[in-house]
Amino acid sequence: MIALDSVDVSYGNIQVIWDFDFEVSEDAGVVSLVGPNGAGKSTLLRVMSGLHPVDSGTVTAWGEDVSTLDSSEIVKKGFVHVSEERNLFGEMTVRENLEMGAYTERDNLEETMQEVYEVFPILEERSDQLARSMSGGQQQMLAIGRGLMARPKILALDEPSEGLAPQITDRVFEKIEDISEDITVLLVEQHVNRALKMADRAYLIENGRIVKEDTGTRLLESDHVKDAYL
Ligand SMILES: Nc1ncnc2c1ncn2[C@@H]1O[C@H](COP(=O)(O)OP(=O)(O)O)[C@@H](O)[C@H]1O
Ligand SMILES: [Mg+2]
Repeated sequence: MIALDSVDVSYGNIQVIWDFDFEVSEDAGVVSLVGPNGAGKSTLLRVMSGLHPVDSGTVTAWGEDVSTLDSSEIVKKGFVHVSEERNLFGEMTVRENLEMGAYTERDNLEETMQEVYEVFPILEERSDQLARSMSGGQQQMLAIGRGLMARPKILALDEPSEGLAPQITDRVFEKIEDISEDITVLLVEQHVNRALKMADRAYLIENGRIVKEDTGTRLLESDHVKDAYL
């Protein structure tokens, strides 16, 4: 389980996350974070993965305070974050990119890669191709596949549908549903409808605070969400 307790976060002297309490366990299915641009969703993922410090409060992962650990140690504990930027190595092949994802889990690399190829057969077909030559949807699948290579207990995905055409978005969401049968997925999405429909638990975030929390379907039916986001 990863948990934030009374967390405040700033960029310089501008506070963007306020007294935030939040937790995700490894049997949570799909947990969605929705809310407007600038609400702080990406910042929360960066804080959980050790990429941005907290001003105060604590971040714990599987019982250990990780507020001051670096990101590779948090990956080792089981929390993996696929950022919005995807950060692929464009001049490396698909296979090499997947190998990079396994930097904390070298032992079962081939076995894990086979599992990733089962989820994303296209990555096996294209394994020798350079990452930059893949389409946007394929690159997103590669970014998710690379995240899976670290064998996460919780996989955080920041706007996986960003920049993708509607049919490709559908395919990516299908894959995310498949993955969530084995691994908890913490999903940040602009596609509020999709993100809430598939969520077991969902949080509406505005101005760095949780303003509503419920099951995905109940949040989707709430007047606040209907009026502001659908
Ligand atoms: N690197 C940064 N430097 C300064 N301010 C930032 C930076 N990244 C995000 N912010 C600000 O923090 C707030 C939250 O941003 P972000 O976490 O990206 O929101 P979301 O992912 O919900 O769109 C916004 O006001 C944004 O402008
Ligand atoms: Mg964001």
